[in-house]
Amino acid sequence: MSNNTSLTRLLNSAFIGSLLTIVVLASMSPSVSQAYAAVDTAIKKITLPASTITLPKSALPGYNLALQKCTICHSVDYIHHQPPGMDQKAWTSAVLKMQHSYGAPLSECDIKSIGAYLSVVYGSAKADDPTIISASQLPVSAQPSDKALDVQVLLTNNGCTGCHDINKTIVGPAFKAIAKKYKSDTDAISKLVVSIRNGGSGKWGNMAMPPMNVNDKEAQTLAGFILKQ
Ligand code: HEC
Ligand code: HEC
Repeated sequence: MSNNTSLTRLLNSAFIGSLLTIVVLASMSPSVSQAYAAVDTAIKKITLPASTITLPKSALPGYNLALQKCTICHSVDYIHHQPPGMDQKAWTSAVLKMQHSYGAPLSECDIKSIGAYLSVVYGSAKADDPTIISASQLPVSAQPSDKALDVQVLLTNNGCTGCHDINKTIVGPAFKAIAKKYKSDTDAISKLVVSIRNGGSGKWGNMAMPPMNVNDKEAQTLAGFILKQ
């Protein structure tokens, strides 16, 4: 009898539990459930052959930013399969949505600059339209200068911090873990410079790092900083 009662209780609580789950799922905003769906797809995608679609090359600064920031959560296919002819405003709000709804790590400058680039390569805008030129201005800190390279600026402007943290794994390994792995490797700097510039996969797990558009000197500064963590 007492066994029976506790079984009933167990069943009851399991039943209430599943009801609660249904209520929670039903009350989730569409963007949250979409985000879950996307994470789900992203996880499944790892086992599929890599997408062959790449972002169209361009001299606009938004190209490099898009390379670094638009493949963190999904493949280029999402961008490629948007309706043709979207203008600068439409592309900029599509990028803004990534930040607002899904938490993409994008500054205001990134959003304008990527929106401008996408509207030129996929839409009707021209690279020399005044609105494209003004939206493509880089923040002062990102402009090339001869001053000592500021590591924090390099990390932020190149999107490293979207995938890496000093202490914990995000998409890529923690900088502390990288420093530990290469502690007694005398070629560590030059190996990491190659990894940073060419990207890579398979050394740390299933996720791939895209090639980063930094020059040798910047990559050396970054590698030196990472190895000191
Ligand atoms: C933090 C994760 C994240 C980042 C970074 C990100 N996206 Fe998305 N993106 C999503 C999610 C989630 C969806 C919705 C997927 C779905 O509905 O299946 C999405 C969907 C899209 C779509 C399809 C249309 C739509 O609104 O659903 C486009 C276009 C797109 N992303 C463009 C971009 C561009 C351009 C960038 C770079 C600026 C970017 N994304 C960066 C998470 C991200
Ligand atoms: C889109 C996500 C992403 C971005 C952006 C990114 N990384 Fe990575 N990074 C990864 C992943 C994933 C790995 C692990 C690759 C592997 O398993 O080989 C990695 C690995 C590394 C490694 C170790 C390479 C090795 O040979 O062991 C270094 C160093 C590194 N990243 C530095 C950087 C720096 C510096 C930047 C910015 C300039 C950057 N990463 C931007 C995802 C990223």
